[in-house]
Amino acid sequence: MMPIITIDGPSGSGKGTLARRLAQHLGFHLLDSGALYRLTALAAQKQQIDLSAAEVADVAETLNVRFDAAGAAYLDEVGVDSVLRTEQTGAMASQIAARPDVRAALLARQRAFAQAPGLVADGRDMGTVVFPSASVKIFLDASAQIRADRRYKQLIGNGLSANLAALIEEIQARDDRDRNRAVAPLIPAPDALVIDSSHLTIEAVEAQMMDFIRAQGVV
Ligand code: C5P
Repeated sequence: MMPIITIDGPSGSGKGTLARRLAQHLGFHLLDSGALYRLTALAAQKQQIDLSAAEVADVAETLNVRFDAAGAAYLDEVGVDSVLRTEQTGAMASQIAARPDVRAALLARQRAFAQAPGLVADGRDMGTVVFPSASVKIFLDASAQIRADRRYKQLIGNGLSANLAALIEEIQARDDRDRNRAVAPLIPAPDALVIDSSHLTIEAVEAQMMDFIRAQGVV
């Protein structure tokens, strides 16, 4: 069976960074599922489609996206990395992600990333919905304050503007929406290893994950 490692968790828990590092370390493919929700929201916005309209599911279904070898995203062949990671795009993604028809439209596209020699998939429902029989499931959490602080540093580091107090509020609002939605809510799979990264370095979290992956016999 092809090894699939899922890493779910809230925004700012470090799952994106850890998923990238694990994929690199293991030589596996990487799925950043949040990027697909973000790209769908950007595509809808570009086509001037209201984010609460049913047409957003058609946008998801027909999304013309591509990731280059360095992971940069292209929407209709136009590079969109500068807007992809903003908090505003994240909030739009979380709004459309609550729609069951949008989630269904993105399902096959996400599963297509599962290719040899293996996949590391990061998101909110990787272990619960998209890859329920994954070999290894991890749920990465951290306190809202620490996640906001990390996000702040990341945005500033990327040359974007940020306001810490506003970020905490935005992160909490996005978490509430992701955790409380009716479809694919953000919850750890019953068989997931839960790690709280609040007071751990990236290296320490990676070491815990690798121990768990080895214990499951994946490598
Ligand atoms: O992970 P990221 O912050 O890029 O995700 C943006 C938004 O997309 C999340 O807040 C969430 O609402 C949605 N999402 C989701 N399911 C996933 C990945 C992301 O609902 N698997």
